[in-house]
Amino acid sequence: MVDADATAEILIEARGLVKRFETAQSRITILDGADLRLAPGETLAVVGASGIGKSTLLHILGTLDRPDAGRLRIAGRGVEGLRSEALARLRNEKIGFVFQFHHLLPEFDALENAMMPCLIHGMARPRAAAAAEEILTRVGLGHRLRHRVVDLSGGEQQRVALARALVMNPPLLLADEPTGNLDKRNSQQVHELLAQLNADLKMAMVVVTHNPELAALMARRATLVDGRLTPTE
Ligand SMILES: Nc1ncnc2c1ncn2[C@@H]1O[C@H](COP(=O)(O)OP(=O)(O)OP(=O)(O)O)[C@@H](O)[C@H]1O
Ligand SMILES: [Mg+2]
Repeated sequence: MVDADATAEILIEARGLVKRFETAQSRITILDGADLRLAPGETLAVVGASGIGKSTLLHILGTLDRPDAGRLRIAGRGVEGLRSEALARLRNEKIGFVFQFHHLLPEFDALENAMMPCLIHGMARPRAAAAAEEILTRVGLGHRLRHRVVDLSGGEQQRVALARALVMNPPLLLADEPTGNLDKRNSQQVHELLAQLNADLKMAMVVVTHNPELAALMARRATLVDGRLTPTE
């Protein structure tokens, strides 16, 4: 069990998550009773071998996939009972998600991609654009606002994806290898930004990473092994 301070208010709580996949030949159990609890502003790094289930876990925590068993509460609400519209709103307002493979809209430019969550939320276009420009500038892309995603480098695309996850200032950031494609300088810039958002906005974070510096920046670390999260140092 990876546990928050017992006295604190809880932002996200997962209990006994189980996830199985059926393939043509077999049935595999990827998550097998994974538990996790984070208070607002708490940060956790998740590590584990390739193929162990880190992305699967993050997708379930982000309500992008459903577990076969177990419970998930976010911001005081059990997600199992939510209809798809309420779930989409919860995701839009509470969760910023950085995918391992960025899932940007390739034909749209950096600004349009980063402002998408604001538009979905119903924000007026000028305000959404201003918010997107500000966060893109913070990830070092102020000079690439009007570049289409297909014309950006891999590291630039990753930073657009990070900007899209952060543009609504969500209380919870779920990030899957957010610096996997970045060089040292840009990784450091992202690390500083995450530390600052955590300090300024009390943004909680679950970050899957093999980057030791990023893992060290999180308050706690856990390893995913045998379908469960185990605290590590
Ligand atoms: N939809 C699916 N159907 C069948 N198997 C799947 C499916 N999604 C994931 N898996 C399998 O589940 C396992 C865990 O996948 P996951 O992507 O969560 O691993 P990971 O820990 O994120 O790995 P990496 O570090 O390489 O990104 C893998 O063996 C993968 O092949
Ligand atoms: Mg993965």
